[in-house]
Amino acid sequence: MYDFNQVIDRTNTNCVKYDAMDSIYGTNALQPFWIADMDLPTFPGITEAIQKRLTHPIIGYSTYQTNDFFSPIKHWFQTRFDINVLKQDIGYAPTVLFTITEVIRMLTNEFDGIIVNTPSYNAFLTLIEGNKRMVVESPLEWCEDRYEMNFTHFEYLCQMPQNKIFILCNPQNPTGKVFTNKELLKIVEICEKNDVFIIADEIHMDFARKSKHISMAKMMPTYDKILVTTCLGKSFNISGMQHSYFITKDHFVKERLNQQMMTVYGLFGANPLIIQAVKAAYLEGHDYIDALNAHIENNMQIIDDYIHRHLNHTLEFHQPEGTFLAWIDFRKSGFSEIEVFEALKSIGRIAIGEGSIYEMHETTHFRLNAAVPESVLLEGLDRIKLTFETLYKKRNQH
Ligand SMILES: Cc1ncc(COP(=O)(O)O)c(C=O)c1O
Repeated sequence: MYDFNQVIDRTNTNCVKYDAMDSIYGTNALQPFWIADMDLPTFPGITEAIQKRLTHPIIGYSTYQTNDFFSPIKHWFQTRFDINVLKQDIGYAPTVLFTITEVIRMLTNEFDGIIVNTPSYNAFLTLIEGNKRMVVESPLEWCEDRYEMNFTHFEYLCQMPQNKIFILCNPQNPTGKVFTNKELLKIVEICEKNDVFIIADEIHMDFARKSKHISMAKMMPTYDKILVTTCLGKSFNISGMQHSYFITKDHFVKERLNQQMMTVYGLFGANPLIIQAVKAAYLEGHDYIDALNAHIENNMQIIDDYIHRHLNHTLEFHQPEGTFLAWIDFRKSGFSEIEVFEALKSIGRIAIGEGSIYEMHETTHFRLNAAVPESVLLEGLDRIKLTFETLYKKRNQH
């Protein structure tokens, strides 16, 4: 029904992934597997709804304070995640990162600590530091067959009075960890005991595959110092149309955020095309998300098989529980991060997410965006293979 294997030329659409690659990698001539948007078509219901809206000749200021916006969100959370989200707990904000930044600025002072699981989505680290707060690491540890939080260490961090916020990323970027109900309850218990506010970034919520996504919104009746922030950007591949929404029972935070947007930034209302997208996607996009996840799951299997067949002594990969991101370890190869990242660029001609931007120390990982057609993925894997074969050859010559 949906063709996720068609190769779509995205060049010359002002897309960051292809057309602005040079700002990061110094050239646009690499095969891109870096930034987290998909080379896959959005849900046709969204493009049709937007096109229909555009037949009206006026695109004036628009409000989200309407059931056109609230009802589809309620429907999605009820049907996908079994949660009855109340209208009055939903707010609109320009982006997920904007929301996170503003909550941090509202609830903490300069040099306070913000706890994040590491490896961490790089923008969390940048914006915490950019706002003169301290990144406090709660490292995820690989235990047998999945990433785990060290709760003893996490509790110790939460007990420090200067650490006021925990940013939970679930499903987690870059490891793909999907937090279990038990883990979320434990997080809530520790945060409540120590008065730590939880910001739950659930932007990857529709990509939980190995287990069901449990939203922090489910925990709000027990602890109200939680804000969930999310959007349709990743799930339906519309990140170019900036938008987000949040859910919180902390109405002090909700009202302060709204007031801040109005009186500090002069922001009000919503993008009318987004309201149409929310309606179309959340009322009719169930099959699309299921098909998309099946495609990504298949791609993860392809990566796994390829590595076992061709790169078993070089790379280690565990299929993620969620997200469309593959977190790949090159420790076994014995090469340093500098050698690997340089070679992936100059030999493989491929742009991956260098692990060092997600970690606070030297890395042995890179992140590969697997939301691509199968043929593109296979070409990328061949390029990675060529990279390491060439590195081994050079090493043997010395
Ligand atoms: C975990 C996470 N949060 C937030 C974002 C960015 O969201 P926004 O563009 O709405 O700020 C991304 C994008 O990659 C992400 O992976």
